Amino acid sequence: MELGNARILLTGATGGLGGALAHELSAAGAELLLAARDMQKLGRLRDSLNTRAVIAQADLNSGDDIAALARTARDFEVNVLINNAGIGCFGLLEQQPWQDIERTLSTNLLTPIRLTQAMLPWLKAQPQAAIVNIGSAFGSIPFAGFAAYSAAKAGLRGFSQALRRELADTRVDVIHLAPRAIDTPLNSPAVNALNRALGNRSDTPEAAAKKIVEILRRGDRERHIGFPESLFAWLNGAMPRLVDQGLAGKLATIKKHASTP
Ligand SMILES: NC(=O)c1ccc[n+]([C@@H]2O[C@H](COP(=O)([O-])OP(=O)(O)OC[C@H]3O[C@@H](n4cnc5c(N)ncnc54)[C@H](OP(=O)(O)O)[C@@H]3O)[C@@H](O)[C@H]2O)c1
Repeated sequence: MELGNARILLTGATGGLGGALAHELSAAGAELLLAARDMQKLGRLRDSLNTRAVIAQADLNSGDDIAALARTARDFEVNVLINNAGIGCFGLLEQQPWQDIERTLSTNLLTPIRLTQAMLPWLKAQPQAAIVNIGSAFGSIPFAGFAAYSAAKAGLRGFSQALRRELADTRVDVIHLAPRAIDTPLNSPAVNALNRALGNRSDTPEAAAKKIVEILRRGDRERHIGFPESLFAWLNGAMPRLVDQGLAGKLATIKKHASTP
């Protein structure tokens, strides 16, 4: 992907990964339409960038806000949509309020599908366009304690692959990138403690953003970010029973941290 000429709508721009991505993409020469709910944070981010950036307030769980954001994106002549906004949801399914599960599926899965649908006619009319969906390692290695989050991210992976195949006769690329844990506010203290207890590695937002931009430049369409997570993702597809057994050995630790208030 040629980022120097790109005009990118980046959702979740005020977050840990979003902010780092905005800086990397701006350094690559892209112009940015930055979206999130917190206008003050968006304004500070815009003022720290070197290329043209416009900010847009949108609660992506609102259909009206998605429609308005899609109109702003057309005015900005966006040719790359990065669906990055997301929320975490750690806990044991039977202890989680339904509202949390619904919000997780809505923000992490329905919202990117809805924004993509709203943007598609415009993107298809561009000489070159791309939709980039930020998934998670948990979309390919569904994890105990993250049932709703894993379901949403596995859904986003399926959506990305199906849409890529549906758009094969257009000039719109569909890219799905699945990072491992990143040190951002998305992870609660309980999740950070769990990662430490399990020895799960994490990346800084800057390192993850650098890797994402490198992959976009290279033109890969499907990538897991981080090793050994990429190997486990493959293993989970080929031999899920092995991953079942591996995770069964970690279940007591996961349950202990999931029950921490
Ligand atoms: N952190 C990790 O360990 C990790 C690992 C793999 C993948 N990911 C994925 O990376 C992406 C970015 O996550 P992050 O770690 O940067 O999280 P973060 O720091 O918590 O940022 C989340 C972003 O999403 C926005 N957002 C949340 N709900 C929204 C809503 N209803 N409407 C509009 N914007 C909303 C937030 O903005 P406002 O609150 O200002 O609206 C914020 O900009 C997510 O898709 C996440 O699933 C994260």
